[in-house]
Amino acid sequence: MKVLMLNGSSNLKGCTYTALEEVGKVLLEEGVDYEIFQIGPKPVRDCIGCRKCRDGRCVFTDDAVNEFVEKAYEADGFVFGSPVYFAHPSGRILSFLDRAFYCNSSDERYRAFKYKPGAVVVSARRGGTTASLDAIQKYFGIAQMPTVGSTYWNMVHGQNPDDVRKDEEGLQTMRNIGRNMAWMLKCFEAGKQNGIMLPNSELSYATNFIRQ
Ligand SMILES: Cc1cc2nc3c(=O)[nH]c(=O)nc-3n(C[C@H](O)[C@H](O)[C@H](O)COP(=O)(O)O)c2cc1C
Repeated sequence: MKVLMLNGSSNLKGCTYTALEEVGKVLLEEGVDYEIFQIGPKPVRDCIGCRKCRDGRCVFTDDAVNEFVEKAYEADGFVFGSPVYFAHPSGRILSFLDRAFYCNSSDERYRAFKYKPGAVVVSARRGGTTASLDAIQKYFGIAQMPTVGSTYWNMVHGQNPDDVRKDEEGLQTMRNIGRNMAWMLKCFEAGKQNGIMLPNSELSYATNFIRQ
């Protein structure tokens, strides 16, 4: 079993990364592998709504979105991490995930993501954390992804990794995400082994607005 994490910060080894690693540490203890996929500091294109996505992939090939989607097909669970910028997630993670999810919506409605558990992790100096969590968790809802919680909302605080390492409650929260994610993955696997099939979701209607 493998969890694919996404670091939505340009800081490759910053606060968000430190939080993701704490989740990963427990996943490994629980026998679950993980990888941290770095969006990195290079430009990330925004979705331009061209609707030319094909085969679950984006038409733009000059950044890492398609590479991430490719890995997502193989992953069993996800952790999306972002720093808080002006009380919302980083612009780059929203641009990245808009394209990763929108292009995959055409492949059996989010085949790379659906029915796989997801957690969001945010890092802030002080404020804007819950609004940022709300924004990113919305990707899970539309893609039929169960959300992994913890013993507090999934956040750490700090301006540098050393600050985060001193945030005892934040780190504890990260470790409990790892435990809950591993437990959920094992439950899903046990269900599959015992004949509990994935739900057969209805997809007939796409009503764009309510008519009288
Ligand atoms: C453009 C920008 C905006 C920020 N806005 C906020 C904010 O609204 N609230 C906050 O608590 N911290 C804010 N911060 C601080 C970062 O969220 C915080 O330092 C975070 O832990 C950095 O994570 P990273 O090391 O993974 O990039 C901001 C930082 C930047 C660069």
